[in-house]
Amino acid sequence: MRKPIIAGNWKMYKNQAEALQFVEAVKNNIPSASKVESVICAPAVYLQSLVVATKGTDLEVGAQNMHYEVEGAFTGEISPSQLADIVVKYVVLGHSERREYFNETDEAVNKKAHAAFAHGLTPIICCGETLEEREAGQTVSKVSSQITAAIAGLTPEQVTSVVVAYEPIWAIGTGKTATAQDANETCGEIRAAIGEAVNDYVAQAVRIQYGGSVKPANVVELLSMEHIDGALVGGASLDAASYLKLLEAG
Ligand code: G3P
Repeated sequence: MRKPIIAGNWKMYKNQAEALQFVEAVKNNIPSASKVESVICAPAVYLQSLVVATKGTDLEVGAQNMHYEVEGAFTGEISPSQLADIVVKYVVLGHSERREYFNETDEAVNKKAHAAFAHGLTPIICCGETLEEREAGQTVSKVSSQITAAIAGLTPEQVTSVVVAYEPIWAIGTGKTATAQDANETCGEIRAAIGEAVNDYVAQAVRIQYGGSVKPANVVELLSMEHIDGALVGGASLDAASYLKLLEAG
């Protein structure tokens, strides 16, 4: 059985007071971690205060990006060891916004995945196709190649604990969601690609989230699908009441 994982990706939203108010509003209603994993991926500047504010709760904190080097002259970057140092548990890697606006490559995502495991962080590795690619029938080849490149060289045990997030780029922040059936089919293809790259046992164990305009109104149907084990949610994770509804679906 794959435990559902619901992760909010706040992107570059909220100030410190809003971030802490959010935790106050949700912390007593987070479902038990034995049933669903609840994560908030916050802007880097608020990670440490969120780790402190969520201590003793079942709400986990994740970063939205990191460098793959442990240290060095990389102005403006944050290292995996620095995230581990403040006890961040998850890190989003290869989000389409990072690939598009910050030139993040499959190779960098792969290095970051290795670095995450070396420092005890769980990577949430994103993949997804553009509308053009979808219309050209390239969805499966695109997401499969992104994921197999990202997990290259990881041990089967590490791949088992990777969280994959399938986010069709055309569905992000647009209000357009893939149908639950379409999303499920592509998540199933990602699982098959992991099966080929590693083995079937790992493929059955790895959790695959769907992301792209997930909201309380559509999350239940999405999560009821065979290959969808959670959600990576942008806009609808910013509001405490909405985030709690997403968790309830998990
Ligand atoms: O990482 C989450 C994401 O890109 C989806 O954003 O606002 O469509 O839920 P949104």
